[in-house]
Amino acid sequence: MGKAPDPVRQPRPPPRGPRRGWILTAVVLLALALLAALLQSRPGSGAASAPAGHFVYYPDQLDKGSPYGKFPIPKDPFHFLPCTPATLPPPLDDDTPERTWAARFDPNPEHWSWANPRDDENGTMREDPYAGRGIFMCGYLDVPLDYTNKSDTRIARLAITKFQVSGLARVDDGAAHIYAGRKSERTIVIEPGGPGGSGTSYAWRFAQNITERFSDGKFDVLGWDPRGVNASLPAVACFPHDASRDHWSLLTSLHYAVAGSPRNQLELVDAMNAAVMRACWERHGDLGRFLGTGLVARDLEEIRIALGEDELTGYLVSYGTGIGQTYAAMFPNSVGRLILDGTEYVRDHRLRGGFGWTALDNATDAWDDGFLGECVNAGPEYCALAKPKDGKPVTLSGLKTRMDVLMASLASRPVAAYLPSSGPTLVTYSALVDSIYGAMYNARSWRALAQTLSELEDGNATLAALTLETSAWYYNPEAPCSPDPIPPSDYELGNLVICADSYDAPGRDDLDWWLSLWGNMTTKNWIAGNSRFYTVLPCRHFTTYWPQPAGVYRGDLNHTLKHPVLLIAETYDPATPLRNGRRLLQEMGTNARLIVHHGYGHSSRDTSACTERIAKAYILNGTLPDEQETDCYADEKPYLYGVKKTVGAAVLAKTQEPLEAWKEHLAELSFLDPRLRPGR
Ligand SMILES: *[C@@H]1O[C@H](CO)[C@@H](O)[C@H](O)[C@H]1NC(C)=O
Ligand SMILES: *[C@@H]1O[C@H](CO)[C@@H](O)[C@H](O)[C@H]1NC(C)=O
Ligand SMILES: *[C@@H]1O[C@H](CO)[C@@H](O)[C@H](O)[C@H]1NC(C)=O
Ligand SMILES: *[C@@H]1O[C@H](CO)[C@@H](O)[C@H](O)[C@H]1NC(C)=O
Ligand SMILES: *[C@@H]1O[C@H](CO)[C@@H](O)[C@H](O)[C@H]1NC(C)=O
Ligand SMILES: *[C@@H]1O[C@H](CO)[C@@H](O)[C@H](O)[C@H]1NC(C)=O
Ligand SMILES: *[C@@H]1O[C@H](CO)[C@@H](O)[C@H](O)[C@H]1NC(C)=O
Ligand SMILES: *[C@@H]1O[C@H](CO)[C@@H](O)[C@H](O)[C@H]1NC(C)=O
Ligand SMILES: *[C@@H]1O[C@H](CO)[C@@H](O)[C@H](O)[C@H]1NC(C)=O
Repeated sequence: MGKAPDPVRQPRPPPRGPRRGWILTAVVLLALALLAALLQSRPGSGAASAPAGHFVYYPDQLDKGSPYGKFPIPKDPFHFLPCTPATLPPPLDDDTPERTWAARFDPNPEHWSWANPRDDENGTMREDPYAGRGIFMCGYLDVPLDYTNKSDTRIARLAITKFQVSGLARVDDGAAHIYAGRKSERTIVIEPGGPGGSGTSYAWRFAQNITERFSDGKFDVLGWDPRGVNASLPAVACFPHDASRDHWSLLTSLHYAVAGSPRNQLELVDAMNAAVMRACWERHGDLGRFLGTGLVARDLEEIRIALGEDELTGYLVSYGTGIGQTYAAMFPNSVGRLILDGTEYVRDHRLRGGFGWTALDNATDAWDDGFLGECVNAGPEYCALAKPKDGKPVTLSGLKTRMDVLMASLASRPVAAYLPSSGPTLVTYSALVDSIYGAMYNARSWRALAQTLSELEDGNATLAALTLETSAWYYNPEAPCSPDPIPPSDYELGNLVICADSYDAPGRDDLDWWLSLWGNMTTKNWIAGNSRFYTVLPCRHFTTYWPQPAGVYRGDLNHTLKHPVLLIAETYDPATPLRNGRRLLQEMGTNARLIVHHGYGHSSRDTSACTERIAKAYILNGTLPDEQETDCYADEKPYLYGVKKTVGAAVLAKTQEPLEAWKEHLAELSFLDPRLRPGR
């Protein structure tokens, strides 16, 4: 291995360490207090009672360029600007990032991302089209790359997107309207999982839903891209072009069941993994040391401090629950109202291959009882696979046998197909099983999948081919190459996080052990086993390049927290089985409560009024059930979502176009498990 290039050029000014962060926060608060005092002494000012941590505007200081003044507001640790397409964090090699950033402020409110008007604000400021409307604010936060080494001045620059529910304060001439800044009393910090899921994208897509769901629209919602992810810098991609990654993916995604010689296939995939880890080293040097969950938890604490809130409020999902558990253990006195939904047990990350084999309990249950069982229950009107065969009604055992026959047939020979968009193509066992695994994350995709499998069974592979092609590649041959090429995907980031967390698990070199694990995992779970195995196998080569990742958390998870956390675990979760949530609860004891959410899919997306009620009371009021465990049941059944509410069959048919439904599903999947969802 050659000498590592310096992965992150040193920016100026030097980063804030945690202590400097405190000092800066104190300075900010002091400045705000002084400003507030100043305002109080001025007659006619309406902003006198702004509480600490809220920004206060005064026209004298502000550029009249926009009715809302000038952004970023001085000393705002997030440097927030109203989001526009230009508000991506400035590059790390920029010597004057704050100046570069400030120049990206677009003063025209018509270019900003406002939420829809809210009914309850009707009339208060009718002359202002943006009054009372939430707004998306974009910013960044610089954090130390290595919190454990004060002499390392490199930083990570985290991309931040905040949905501010009550919009912006307006600065009108004549001081008719001077408002205290519109920050809410608490901010719900969100993280969708992965590792590798983008919190900023999650905020764009779900922030308005999340603030309604958990706080009746009262609290702001903040998402961040964890270090290495998406718009945060440095971003981790180990291939220079997505097409280069795709070039190998057919070889490296072959399943155990169709591998011919599993040993030969393992040698090939393992060799490719060695090449990928080497490439990560060549492109990013020692960056791989600084991606583990322990450091991500410290970043989260920096976010809380920058928010100026005494305790963290959050909704963390999937792998995000691993960040949350680690955070709670490292910063027990900062824990406010934290929901961990789709709960993993982060201790499992410490085991060799643990992120993979501890996840397998229930994906096949979701297929058997859910995808097939609920299909039969819903009947042929709602599930294509329930249509009578040869004049006979469909039974569950009959349907199971049919699907076994279909999968066995694909394993022995793929089905040929033609698409105008891709030309000749194949429906393969490996690609179809990986898509089925993805579908188990979200029961709203099941109608489309049932339609696809039904047509495939009847000898028409067109829809199946279309379905598989939507997630076959990272490279999109139809995306325009100019003016700016799309940067390569950060796919490898997830592997580096998982591998950093398990770096000291013994016995990682033993290829025979991995071969045995592969067989065991696919035997235990034909849907999830292969995908999960390939996610952890690269760790065999991690310590070759990064033998000592920094800041990995190895302590207990049972610390006494300022407030108990609320865990939600699902009975049919294909990625974070209930068993893991229960094991976590066992360790956390009275520092946690668990909702056992009886429903399908990954995290509590199978909506239950009971879960919603408990979660809202917790986020809004801090109240929790007395019992350690509470059972909640999903309100509706798969295949029948919204059926009762729908007036006509025509409306129903319109919402169920299978390929569109599938694309919607893939968009959601990209947050929870980006590795299950190539293609953009
Ligand atoms: C909102 O304003 C419109 C007139 O602009 C009025 O007709 C309507 O009743 C108002 N709605 C509410 C909820 O106040
Ligand atoms: C700490 O950072 C300095 C400066 O980059 C570096 O020379 C030193 O090796 C680092 N120490 C450790 C233990 O990583
Ligand atoms: C949030 O989204 C979910 C899933 O799409 C939906 O069931 C729920 O009704 C939404 N909640 C709110 C408050 O908008
Ligand atoms: C990542 O960031 C870019 C901006 O560079 C954004 O357009 C994109 O939607 C983000 N999310 C994902 C999942 O790529
Ligand atoms: C999930 O898997 C566990 C085994 O770990 C099993 O006991 C449980 O019944 C499964 N859940 C469902 C809903 O099938
Ligand atoms: C095959 O399926 C596609 C997609 O559902 C459909 O458009 C096409 O008409 C079908 N072809 C035949 C011959 O049935
Ligand atoms: C796979 O299963 C066999 C039989 O239960 C067991 O002996 C072996 O240790 C397992 N291998 C791994 C890597 O867990
Ligand atoms: C946490 O659990 C460990 C055993 O794993 C025990 O030794 C320790 O006392 C516990 N700590 C607290 C605060 O309960
Ligand atoms: C929060 O507490 C208030 C006052 O006790 C109560 O009126 C309200 O219903 C509670 N909200 C929720 C969501 O439980």
